[in-house]
Amino acid sequence: MTTRGKLKPRLGAFYAVQLPEADDFAFWRERARGLVQCDVPPDRIAWIEPGATGSLFASGDTRLSPPPSDARAVRASKAFVQAAQTAMCHSDPDRFGLLYRLLWRLQGNPRALEDRADADVRRLDEFIRQVRRDMHKMRAFVRFRLVPTDADALGPEAAEHYVAWFEPEHHILRANAGFFVRRFANMRWSILTPQGSLHWDGDALCEGPPAQKADAPAGDAMEELWRRYYASIFNPARLKIGAMLKEMPRKYWKNMPETALIADLVAGAQGREATMIDAGAIAPEDRPDSLSAIDKAIHMCRRCPIGELETRAVMGEGPQDADLMIVGEQPGDQEDLAGRPFVGPAGHLLDEHLEQAGIDRAATYVTNGVKHFKFVMRGKRRLHQSPTAKEIDTCRWWIEDERALVKPKLVLALGASAARSMLGRTVSISRERGRAHGLGDGSELWITAHPSYLLRLDGAGREEQERLFDADLAAVAGRLAELAGR
Ligand code: URA
Repeated sequence: MTTRGKLKPRLGAFYAVQLPEADDFAFWRERARGLVQCDVPPDRIAWIEPGATGSLFASGDTRLSPPPSDARAVRASKAFVQAAQTAMCHSDPDRFGLLYRLLWRLQGNPRALEDRADADVRRLDEFIRQVRRDMHKMRAFVRFRLVPTDADALGPEAAEHYVAWFEPEHHILRANAGFFVRRFANMRWSILTPQGSLHWDGDALCEGPPAQKADAPAGDAMEELWRRYYASIFNPARLKIGAMLKEMPRKYWKNMPETALIADLVAGAQGREATMIDAGAIAPEDRPDSLSAIDKAIHMCRRCPIGELETRAVMGEGPQDADLMIVGEQPGDQEDLAGRPFVGPAGHLLDEHLEQAGIDRAATYVTNGVKHFKFVMRGKRRLHQSPTAKEIDTCRWWIEDERALVKPKLVLALGASAARSMLGRTVSISRERGRAHGLGDGSELWITAHPSYLLRLDGAGREEQERLFDADLAAVAGRLAELAGR
């Protein structure tokens, strides 16, 4: 590389740069730019972790002259900046040096990152993969515990404070903060780690010092719920220990209440397989005992990939003694924003047809089989994606709990996903609509099309489907009146 500008690095000068924070990308970028513009080659720089002390630092020359005014702009593609931002969160002390080497090389060869065989490029990829995996694991495995707070001093809303202890491998706490704020926006929580802590009071996020495990509480009712949930979704017929360990590596087990069950569940798997009818079935006495307990629990649920998306769980709504429960597939974009089921376009269409059939929505319990909105981004829009059979089956635990508490006489499933969430099998709407299916507890399931399906049709096709939809709703209204003895 040629020396640009008037200012040359002093021959033999050595630069030591100490980062103020382990993940301070803005600081690194600012320093790296200045060093490139002053033509300081990678091997003349020692990048030092925050808090480190030592001989290098003492003898290093940290005073870099400002770059010359005619120094060329530093080249760094958007892809490099994004990659560097993620890799900066890695715990390897060489990350700063690696990024500087790559930045240095990009000045002479803007395509340097495209050489997948290059050792530095491969290392960068590996850092990014490991950081992303750690972020994902944190999202999945943070377990909040409810701690009692002084309600008298702080007011009733402050009474519920959730605290989690987590030990990340990399410096991902700050990078993951947005996820937890969006996901648990309405809760008061703290996440404590050995690297620092985050505290959210429902309005503002603040950072705190590193913590110790003893600072976090152990054991509460929520833990018991997690344990029961895990036991209920554990399917011994599908036991694959290798895959389980890959998904939930042992190093995370110590802070997850449900993992206390794993050894017993694995040991008893074969015996249970013979008698197990339904992976979602659990004894009635093990159910959460209120709708608000389910509401809290679904907000924590990240048992399937949908729970990993940054959406909020949408709980069912309506009277707990409703005779009719209407089940949709999953919240849509509007429902996710409002936190209520069926408030978007499909909800408006449903309301119109319910009114026409003489079914009072206000007297109905309305919910969804899947509690989170599954989507893909298209530009700025979040496009609905259907849940997979496995995702619906994983979420059945919650809808079964709701049904056990509401005890409706009739359940109306809108569409094939909702019908699957009630029956645990694939359902053909055209073959199974418009008649009663026994649900085992004396209640009946009725199946019809989903209003979103009607919204996608037009012309004669739409008219025909609306007619069938109305006929199904009229049959449900008639059956409701019959059961009420009217
Ligand atoms: N579609 C559904 O299935 N449920 C909703 O809540 C909204 C749209």
